[in-house]
Amino acid sequence: MAIERTFSIIKPDATRRNLTGKINAVIEDAGLRIVAQKRVRWTRAQAEKFYEEHKARPFYGELVDFMTSGPVVLQVLEGENAIAKYREVMGATDPKEAAEGTIRKLFAESKGSNSTHGSDSAAAADREIALNFRLDEIVG
Ligand code: TYD
Ligand code: MG
Repeated sequence: MAIERTFSIIKPDATRRNLTGKINAVIEDAGLRIVAQKRVRWTRAQAEKFYEEHKARPFYGELVDFMTSGPVVLQVLEGENAIAKYREVMGATDPKEAAEGTIRKLFAESKGSNSTHGSDSAAAADREIALNFRLDEIVG
């Protein structure tokens, strides 16, 4: 299996509740390495660009409001099969549908306020990492 990198966000509902360390423990216990990490407050323009694939969806405005409502922790995660593995570790978008032990089952408040983001494909991971980190900020 190939070593991959994926992009992760610890969202404002989780930073507000002081859950960064607990979420990082789930990530590391799953065998993923946090090879880049920074805490920032996104502007609307940054959130809109990041989520532009969802522009036409009814939840887009609320999603941008939420992602700019507080600090986010941006991360690059590295490991075997990291993209699919992190999606599994996060669980389903809606915590009501997320499996036991997943980050969203453990911590998410609702479908919109769901604690983490993880890239859904290799192309998305490349785009999302490039949007948020310089190469020299990622230390594997
Ligand atoms: P999506 O990419 O479908 O989910 P995921 O984060 O699991 O890849 O949607 C992006 C985010 O948009 C999702 O994490 C939360 C929000 N969202 C809603 O608020 N309502 C919805 O019905 C959906 C599908 C997503
Ligand atoms: Mg998605």
